[in-house]
Amino acid sequence: MAVIRSVVRGVGAYLPERIISNDELSERLDTSDEWIRERTGIRQRHIAADGEFTSDLGIAASRQAMVRSGIDPSDIDVVILATSTPDQTFPATAATIQAELGIQRGAAAFDLQAVCSGFVFALATADSLLRSGPYRRALVVGAETFSRILDWEDRTTCVLFGDGAGAVVLEAQPQHGTNDDRGILSTRMCTDGRYRDKLFVDGGPSTSRTSGYLRMNGREVFRHAVTKISGVIEETLVESGLAADEIDWFVPHQANKRILEGTAAKLGIPIEKIIITLDRHANTSAASIPLALNQGVEDGRIKEGDLVLLEAMGGGFTWGAALIRW
Ligand code: UT7
Repeated sequence: MAVIRSVVRGVGAYLPERIISNDELSERLDTSDEWIRERTGIRQRHIAADGEFTSDLGIAASRQAMVRSGIDPSDIDVVILATSTPDQTFPATAATIQAELGIQRGAAAFDLQAVCSGFVFALATADSLLRSGPYRRALVVGAETFSRILDWEDRTTCVLFGDGAGAVVLEAQPQHGTNDDRGILSTRMCTDGRYRDKLFVDGGPSTSRTSGYLRMNGREVFRHAVTKISGVIEETLVESGLAADEIDWFVPHQANKRILEGTAAKLGIPIEKIIITLDRHANTSAASIPLALNQGVEDGRIKEGDLVLLEAMGGGFTWGAALIRW
């Protein structure tokens, strides 16, 4: 039976030029390259320049994804930007991306906020819109400037994050309704707001009239991460009738090497199948998955027909997963 699937037509990414190494951070904080590498797997992070905004990062990544997709910007019907660091409280930063890329006037463009799970949530939302119509083509972006909400005096958080952006272009295409179809096969989005004080920003327009700084109980987040992530992946696999050993590439949100290797081990996914960018990018929140997807496609690992598994967990708590036949 013919069904509509959201097929990935193009992927793109952008990282700011400036790189800050662990050693550079150690010069101004009571930390060390050894501690950061051993506890997290991070070696360096990219940081946006003064005057370089989330929209600039998102536009650069989107431009590359659009060119590679071969789709004209005037044919995009919906733009979803996953971010927790918008340029302004409003309008949505997605509106800036829409205008700067020449995406058709009248296309829907909005921001989606699910912190580190933002890209999975945005992908699931776009997939739902494309499959139910009338939308045909979507630009889904993850872009962040977490450097602007970090307390650079707090060694327990500031060493973990970086700035960056990634984007994918999706197109609704008729497929056969089987697991061999190209496109998004299954998605899941979950939130449990009882844990919202474990990872949060201590400001906002309605509370403090400031943008605030990121605060995290790292140990508590870690404790929940592997269980929640492996649980949602198992649900996604069962729902689609696929097994973990059919996965070609595991593209997780890049928060901590111990979390992603622990999840892979629990699911029986070999380490060689994990696409890891954490060492060079650190945690870029909603941008980390599309940045890793771009890496896998550019270096030739992810190819047409491969089964790709995405997952994320972050503030809220939010968590989710997606299975894509590339
Ligand atoms: O993407 C959103 C989701 N976020 C995450 O997934 C983050 C999840 N959590 C983690 O990745 C880890 O919990 C961290 C990397 C944040 C921390 O690793 P940990 O092994 O859980 O360390 P810890 O918090 O238990 O701290 C161990 C020690 C502490 O010292 P004491 O109390 O044992 O004396 C910390 O003060 O390490 C100390 N510490 C540091 N030392 C050097 C904390 N940060 C640093 C640092 N440099 N940057």
